[in-house]
Amino acid sequence: MTNTHQPWYSRILDTVGHTPLVRLNRLFSESHQRIFAKMESFNPGGSIKDRTALQLITHAMENGKLKEGDTVVESSSGNMAIGLAQTCKYFGLKLEVVVDPMINNQNIKIIKAYGGRINFVDSPAQKGGYLQARLDRVQEILASNPRSFWTNQYGNNQNPATHRQTMHEIVKDLGEAPDYLFAATSTCGTLMGCAEYIKKHGLKTKVIAVDAEGSVIFGTSAGDRKIPGHGAGRASQFLDKELIHSYVKIDDQECIKGCHKLLDSEAILCGGSSGAVVYACQKLISSIPYGATIAMILCDRGERYLDTIYNEDWVKKNITTCETVLI
Ligand SMILES: Cc1ncc(COP(=O)(O)O)c(C=O)c1O
Repeated sequence: MTNTHQPWYSRILDTVGHTPLVRLNRLFSESHQRIFAKMESFNPGGSIKDRTALQLITHAMENGKLKEGDTVVESSSGNMAIGLAQTCKYFGLKLEVVVDPMINNQNIKIIKAYGGRINFVDSPAQKGGYLQARLDRVQEILASNPRSFWTNQYGNNQNPATHRQTMHEIVKDLGEAPDYLFAATSTCGTLMGCAEYIKKHGLKTKVIAVDAEGSVIFGTSAGDRKIPGHGAGRASQFLDKELIHSYVKIDDQECIKGCHKLLDSEAILCGGSSGAVVYACQKLISSIPYGATIAMILCDRGERYLDTIYNEDWVKKNITTCETVLI
């Protein structure tokens, strides 16, 4: 994606990927491991989903499934929709996104600014929660428009394929494979793309999946969740547990604590799933050997959570057991 011959980029989409890897010295200052963060917030649309959106769209265009003037349809809690909105805008494609009440207002404004149309689903499906309700709406839109195309981040193998590159960048920038990789999960595209790369290259890295409490990805029962981005109300089509070392469940309160810890210690304002990843690392770090190298993927920017995770009133109102978080 980066142009290696000249110091400028030919188009904004060429700035997707090749995000910085940052050493986190202060996060767990007493720890004896080396911790690095893959800063996906540096993507032009602000999240790791810029990579997925670009890959899904270019793959479809190159294979004749999508052409200028067509309509892209996708279900998204926000970041994928923003990645798609930017990519569609660039390629002259229309975009219909299906969202649920967990999406925040700022994301809606960003999607609209890029020209995307918002379709709201306001109640969960009886089985499969909001995700299933959004997918049902996607099918309705596809049926009503013959020039529409579903990128299908939940089932399109180009999603995990995208993240072989994400893992490649981590290994390249680190100069070696990390001993541990912590990655948040929703479609499991990120997790499995990284895990597939590790398997293909015979790397030593142990993959730790970080899932939301109340998400069903690892077979536990569905529950109320307030932080968008990670977790899912439906099983992942990509997940291969054989390639994963273990998984950690993080509740909303822990997720918020992780966000504030990262902000206070490293001056990084990150999104909810990054807080979950930080908290998961904190939970496991005492069992990780001295001197081990840990890479964690921080999926998005914190600016999109200023009215929620970083708003004391919202936290008090919505995360009932969270009084001690905002110190
Ligand atoms: C902030 C954030 N973190 C994590 C994820 C999970 O990524 P994946 O769908 O690749 O599992 C997403 C997905 O939308 C996200 O928006």
